[in-house]
Amino acid sequence: MNILLTGGTGLIGRALCRALLERGCQITVLSRRPATVAERCGAVRAMASLEQWRPGDRYDAVINLAGAPIVSGRWSARRKRVLWDSRIASTEQLVEKIAAAETRPKVLLSGSAVGFYGDSGERQVTEDAPPGDDFGARLCEAWEQAARRAEDLGARVCLLRTGLVLSRAGGLLARMLPPFRLGLGARLGDGSQWMSWIHIDDQVAMMVKLLFEDAHHGAYNLCAPEPVRNTDFTARLAAALHRPAVLFAPAPVIHAALGEAACLLLGGQRAAPARMTAADYRFRHAALDGALRQLL
Ligand SMILES: NC(=O)c1ccc[n+]([C@@H]2O[C@H](COP(=O)([O-])OP(=O)(O)OC[C@H]3O[C@@H](n4cnc5c(N)ncnc54)[C@H](OP(=O)(O)O)[C@@H]3O)[C@@H](O)[C@H]2O)c1
Repeated sequence: MNILLTGGTGLIGRALCRALLERGCQITVLSRRPATVAERCGAVRAMASLEQWRPGDRYDAVINLAGAPIVSGRWSARRKRVLWDSRIASTEQLVEKIAAAETRPKVLLSGSAVGFYGDSGERQVTEDAPPGDDFGARLCEAWEQAARRAEDLGARVCLLRTGLVLSRAGGLLARMLPPFRLGLGARLGDGSQWMSWIHIDDQVAMMVKLLFEDAHHGAYNLCAPEPVRNTDFTARLAAALHRPAVLFAPAPVIHAALGEAACLLLGGQRAAPARMTAADYRFRHAALDGALRQLL
């Protein structure tokens, strides 16, 4: 399969490249830093700009993961614009390219997040739940809508409502490990918010399933079947590292530091991977303790 991948140099993209190369796929990675692509992604082609996709070029599939990091301090108006353009404007351009292709890709897998649902509180959310109304939720909804336009062009579109990806190579764990290793792990606020997490191996395996099995389309919650509260996540991570975790970061301090973006830490989603479960997906790491043991 000949695949065009955006965001391929990122945490998920690098792991996905390994899995797809093992399956004999040919991959072209669109990157703002094409010179670093081979080192990060392996034996793939680098593309510096979508302008290089000529109508005669043929891709069987497009996977769209590019986007500026959401958890990166306060959401100023300027930062929001970067978050928006790096996902929605870039997806619109991608769909224009799909439209212009002489032979159109058959499938588009496009990024989203469980943040689509906003802070769902105690409510369990499956894929048919409505979107939330905070900035992160609106971003995901617009990102999904931009990708769905490829359906009108005949593509099978799968939307990846991804949970918090657990990996040794970066993301949430990389941010949490240094303080936790020093015994400075802390729950956030009252710690009652839900965290829908996913082991990187399951994230990649679910994406491969969506890519190769033609029956799948629409939105999928890519998260483990057992979300946990922040207070549990904190305790289990500390236990896996044999360290104490008796501290907590008070909600007003997090609000003062992050403003509107504090909802990412103080809110959460109790998401269920209903459609993946219905599709008989077998989780490699369904429980958090096992996932952490494997990663640490
Ligand atoms: N990791 C998670 O826990 C998680 C959870 C839910 C959703 N997601 C979503 O899934 C996607 C992939 O996640 P990830 O963790 O692999 O992301 P990541 O490691 O942050 O990588 C994203 C990639 O997007 C590109 N990018 C970054 N800033 C950009 C900008 N301003 N304009 C255009 N491209 C930009 C970069 O590629 P180049 O530098 O090569 O251009 C980068 O490698 C992201 O869009 C993310 O929002 C991730």
